[in-house]
Amino acid sequence: MPEINNPDPARLIEGLRDTGYNVPTAVADIIDNSIAAGATTINVTIDLLQDGRKVVQFGDDGHGMSSADVRGAMRYGSDRRADAKSLGKFGLGLKTASSSVCRRFSVLSRTSADENLAKLTWDLDHVARTGTWEMLDEPASPDQQESFGELCGASGTLVIWESCDRLLSKDYAPGAKELAAVKKLADKLGKHVALVFHRFLDAHDSRERDVVININGVPVKPWNPFYPERSDQLLAEAKQQVVVEMPDGSEADALIKAWILPHRRDMTPEEEAKHARITNRAQGFYVYREGRLIQDGGWMDVFGSPEPHTSLLRVEFDFGHELDEAFRIDVKKSRILFHPDMETGLRNLLQPVYREAQNRYRRTSRDEANQRDKVAHASANTNIAATTNTAKPRVIAVDTESQTAEISNNRGPRIRITAPVQDHVNRESLHVEAVTDITSGNLWEPALRSTDNREYVPGVLLNKHHDFYQKIYLRAASNGYAVEGMDLLLYAFAMAEQNNVDPELVPLFEDIRQEISTNLKKLLRNLPDPEPTELVAADLN
Ligand SMILES: Nc1ncnc2c1ncn2[C@@H]1O[C@H](COP(=O)(O)OP(=O)(O)OP(=O)(O)O)[C@@H](O)[C@H]1O
Ligand SMILES: [Mg+2]
Repeated sequence: MPEINNPDPARLIEGLRDTGYNVPTAVADIIDNSIAAGATTINVTIDLLQDGRKVVQFGDDGHGMSSADVRGAMRYGSDRRADAKSLGKFGLGLKTASSSVCRRFSVLSRTSADENLAKLTWDLDHVARTGTWEMLDEPASPDQQESFGELCGASGTLVIWESCDRLLSKDYAPGAKELAAVKKLADKLGKHVALVFHRFLDAHDSRERDVVININGVPVKPWNPFYPERSDQLLAEAKQQVVVEMPDGSEADALIKAWILPHRRDMTPEEEAKHARITNRAQGFYVYREGRLIQDGGWMDVFGSPEPHTSLLRVEFDFGHELDEAFRIDVKKSRILFHPDMETGLRNLLQPVYREAQNRYRRTSRDEANQRDKVAHASANTNIAATTNTAKPRVIAVDTESQTAEISNNRGPRIRITAPVQDHVNRESLHVEAVTDITSGNLWEPALRSTDNREYVPGVLLNKHHDFYQKIYLRAASNGYAVEGMDLLLYAFAMAEQNNVDPELVPLFEDIRQEISTNLKKLLRNLPDPEPTELVAADLN
């Protein structure tokens, strides 16, 4: 014989408070309902009353509800919505979101100005007292009627949260601190709403209809996390459509775009704070269901955990209600799950963009490092100038025009070579200098240099763009001996080349230099670039 085993109302209604909402996600869930009701203006107020009570109200000018509808709306497990596209899905949001923040919440509604306000209230303490799913049906108070007029207008829906025991993260004694905490919360909510509903808030975004959301009377301005005015979208049109297979075998399209934001260095601080807001955790997938953001950032097992080198990459991922089953959206509408096949597909699709984002970050942070390059090559230069008996070629003549020289070396007199010929070089970098204009990609290049334009000596140019310079030299910058040692080693290589080269051997020496440089690059591949913090010590030098 089947046995009916009804849940305990008091225990269940308490338990449903903890389904994982936080205040911003709860607020967004109430706003979802207003948007689904066709509202064009949504007014959210957060009030700290004289007696310390905190009240949050949400008024909208949507289609409103009859008293029977209000009853249905307040039921845990409301009827399925007629419109599958709507943001509502489970028939729970209104109740679970509200009770995650407060112990008493009401819905007041009417569909036209000439109707009375329908109102029902859940009071968790009342449910605990009676041990039944009993609602309160007190009429709207004069204050509440006034609020309705202010926040909704003639018709629409007003949701009121009272006894907000979980609005602030801790209990404050009444006073300035509590007031400041409420203000801070309002700012935080504004930021969240600005992101989650940015397509609705942005009058220039034609993908969704326009909605105005005011928090404590201040209109929320949209924040588009892709900063399209300045970012590059790197996925070709043909690759933006992703076919997703549903559990039942049917298919539908999701849309995907990959944005690389400008590097911090290429933005003003205001621009960065207002538009880009580059942080480590802001990289990754931004997932939209029917235009509403449900997940902001994170790589969702498609790539590893967020790291600074990919912080410029944000992926816009769009799906419609047809794919709800495929993505297993949760009650709070704040996360989805990718099927493992989908993860693999996305990884393959996005790998090149992911790498490009890393490169761009590195490139700009290398430029930055080069600008701040405090690697001191002066001691190697002093040492070389003072050590006259090293084996090296003698420079007979140079031609700056053709960048060639005649030298005498172990192969014989008057050997003609092609090499950078540089005049008016600083004395402290005459023999060794790190430069940014080596195009061969080699770590070093022999050169002929002069502090004026007469006495040329052989020297070596180091390539600041080479990985060895970026990863080893920059790290060694705070250790003068290490830098000097590496300088001297590369100088010695360059002298050995110049002192033993002749026109026939030129390709051989070049091959060796290239091979060493390429091998080093390969060997250093898995060594990360130094983080700015690692270079602080170097800067003090
Ligand atoms: N602001 C509103 N205006 C009009 N009707 C509303 C409003 N808020 C809620 N409703 C009605 O109440 C019902 C229940 O809302 P609730 O948020 O609990 O569930 P849902 O939106 O259907 O699904 P979900 O659990 O995904 O939010 C809705 O289906 C809708 O009919
Ligand atoms: Mg809802």
